[in-house]
Amino acid sequence: MNILIRDNYEEMSKTAAQLIAKLVRDKPNCVLGLATGSTPIGTYKELIRMHKEEGLDFSQVRTFNLDEYLGLGMDLNKPYELDQSYARFMYEEFFKHINIKPENTLVPDGLTKDPYAYCKWYEEQIAAAGGIDLQLLGLGRDGHWGFNEPGSSLASRTRVVALHQKTIDDNYESFFKKTGLSKDEMPKFAITMGIGTILEAHSAIMIVNGAHKADIVAQAIEGPVTAQVTASAMHLYQGDLTIVLDQAAAAKLQNYKHYLHVENLMRESCFL
Ligand code: GLP
Repeated sequence: MNILIRDNYEEMSKTAAQLIAKLVRDKPNCVLGLATGSTPIGTYKELIRMHKEEGLDFSQVRTFNLDEYLGLGMDLNKPYELDQSYARFMYEEFFKHINIKPENTLVPDGLTKDPYAYCKWYEEQIAAAGGIDLQLLGLGRDGHWGFNEPGSSLASRTRVVALHQKTIDDNYESFFKKTGLSKDEMPKFAITMGIGTILEAHSAIMIVNGAHKADIVAQAIEGPVTAQVTASAMHLYQGDLTIVLDQAAAAKLQNYKHYLHVENLMRESCFL
């Protein structure tokens, strides 16, 4: 597990984008696992810049998204701010700006008639693609990956989950408020990859920024492995995990200086 601490959100985003771009160049037909939320927007912006200015080619890349609200699906007839589906987010913030084939992008279908069969199918699609080469992850304020809320099994698979009130509050403030919906009208359920699904990705990057995440970052990275902070499952992960934080999100890490020292040492020794 590498922990990289950057000065600010822009630098965090650039570092994450560089790691993703390296894989896309090394393995043009790679499978990416993607995330939504305010955190990855800068990473997507930088990847879009690399596509436009440096010719970063997504024509053979396949993607699977972590999650989607149950009951929501992309509706291009609506203005973006009124369509809060994660499918629309991915289209607006990333896919429509790059040369990825729409048929190579899969976001869980929040409008599926049979969510249980769909979740099984989604897992089968990931397996059929050969698994996820690199999973991008954010961190919810209650310590979740995807929508794996406190109490989710650390072996869980893609499934339907009920959202935690903290998640509803956060996502209402960041996204839904501008639609004119009241908090009560927000989706209360979602489809999410499970923690067990995420742990099978061949490599992963977690990005976190902001002082409001500093406590949960410290719990996830330096606290015990617990289903109450599902991202703490990172300590069970067998692939390469790179955590990229801005200084504000890293501020409460007890071993902050150690992580900086390790990064310098690794860089000097050409391990990074
Ligand atoms: C949602 C998503 C998560 C994301 C989290 C953090 O709950 N399902 O995948 O990590 O929000 O969002 P933000 O980046 O806006 O803080």
